[in-house]
Amino acid sequence: MKVDLYEKIWMWASVALIVVFLTTLALAAGSQAVRPPSHIETVDPTTIYEHPEFGSPGVETRPDGSVLVTGVAQMFIWDPDPIEVPAGAPVTFRLTSADVIHGFQVVGTNANAMVIPGYVTEFTMTFDEPGEYLILCHEYCGLLHHEMMSKLIVEESSS
Ligand code: CUA
Repeated sequence: MKVDLYEKIWMWASVALIVVFLTTLALAAGSQAVRPPSHIETVDPTTIYEHPEFGSPGVETRPDGSVLVTGVAQMFIWDPDPIEVPAGAPVTFRLTSADVIHGFQVVGTNANAMVIPGYVTEFTMTFDEPGEYLILCHEYCGLLHHEMMSKLIVEESSS
């Protein structure tokens, strides 16, 4: 079978691209620890406001100075709003949804996660720059999705 030279070039170019993509994925997973979250924790979204933890969303400073934010998303609000945390302290977010899938994004930072009913989304971040940050829902969740926003206030740390 005769394969035209240009045909061959394009064929091998696509093979090379696939190799490049797979290598990139392998490197990201291996050396940068980029992988799906391994933390799987479920919660009943229908009784979320009676839940011992998510029934009272809020911000708590732990004895070691780190901060725990317990948050609930619901069409079309975030609870708590605003979230106030100190600069420079590790902030662990534990988020869930009372209804549909929402997205939690702190604009201008790497804080960006899906908030899924029935599951607890957990991640830890440190905010070094004091200021007011916009929190947006980045997953279409209904007619007022575009109105679903709140505030993260990072306060100058006193120490
Ligand atoms: Cu919540 Cu979009």
